[in-house]
Amino acid sequence: SSVTIPPPACMLRPLEVPLRYLFGPGPSNVPPRILAAGSRPIIGHLHPEMYEIMNDIKKGIQYAFQTENNMTIAMSGSGHAAMECAVFNTVEPGESVLIAINGIWGERVAEIAERMGKRLRTGLRTLNKYTTLIPIHKPVLFFLTHGESSAGLCHPVDGIGDICRKHDCLFLVDTVASLGAAPIFMDKQNIDILYSGSQKALNAPPGTAPISFNDRACHKMFNRKTKPVSYLFDMTHLSNYWGCDGKPARVYHHTGPVSGFFALRESLAILAERGLEESWKKHKEVAAYLYRGLEDLGLKLFVPERDLRLPSVTTIAIPEGYDWREMLTYIMKHHHMEMTGGLGPSIGMVMRIGLMGYNCEKTNADMALHALADALKNCKKSKP
Ligand code: GLV
Repeated sequence: SSVTIPPPACMLRPLEVPLRYLFGPGPSNVPPRILAAGSRPIIGHLHPEMYEIMNDIKKGIQYAFQTENNMTIAMSGSGHAAMECAVFNTVEPGESVLIAINGIWGERVAEIAERMGKRLRTGLRTLNKYTTLIPIHKPVLFFLTHGESSAGLCHPVDGIGDICRKHDCLFLVDTVASLGAAPIFMDKQNIDILYSGSQKALNAPPGTAPISFNDRACHKMFNRKTKPVSYLFDMTHLSNYWGCDGKPARVYHHTGPVSGFFALRESLAILAERGLEESWKKHKEVAAYLYRGLEDLGLKLFVPERDLRLPSVTTIAIPEGYDWREMLTYIMKHHHMEMTGGLGPSIGMVMRIGLMGYNCEKTNADMALHALADALKNCKKSKP
């Protein structure tokens, strides 16, 4: 019998990928060293050499998170996978969760929790300020986004873990957009569950996500009455796959993204070589330089309070008399540069510039400012 569907013409053409300055909220440009690590020959996901690499990744994450938690792994999936893993494993039917919404990520967790039939309460919906919380009866989990990429906000974390402890509630923090760019201390800040993503300040390709659970979180998730709704994200299996469950052998659960783990290991190695303090300092300095340049262009920053700004992703209020989509299209076309609009609740309110990790340099800030100045000159709407 012969095939009736011929090979598609597009598949007979070579892959084309343009070179771009990724100055949006992620993925960021991947440095050659990490790209090279990702292109090393594949080995089996259950080979002993792979276990060694996974053990290294665990150590690298422990450093990046500033934690000694044994239950520290990387998800096979984006930051979103880590978000779902955290909620699926720690919350059971009938329990309540409390969610601070200061941008899209709180909205996401609320939606995930709602789909699981959770009773939930959300904080006041503020985009560019502190979140104020509404009281709720005995939540088992409190979610906060540290690096809110949709709003460009870096939310303070100090003291919140202590309050959660007092109320026997787990403190879950999202650092997808802030890890490596703004200080976070998982153990010292009493954060029970912390996760991040590979594709922002870590500069690895998208597709893997560090996550860590402390003993309080492990106690809750391994003493459940019901199984988590997801098999893939079940920490009983993932903890074995990552050699965190004390069992002598790792058994097959799923096939992890081997190349993605190579790249993630390299990105964590670069962070370790460079040092967290140095990386935080650099992000702060370059962000301050960018703020000055933006203000010189007559642009307004969306987050008024400087200390609350996320150093990795800067949000600019859309200037009057401009169509933000047109500006971003112009910048992509003429400068081969990605900047983005808002996301979720900030759509139509902001444009976003991300200078993360490898991309976090004053020379790149200059290029971004030059592109914006050009767009401001050429995209102004004529008065009707
Ligand atoms: C994605 O993480 C974004 O902030 O756009």
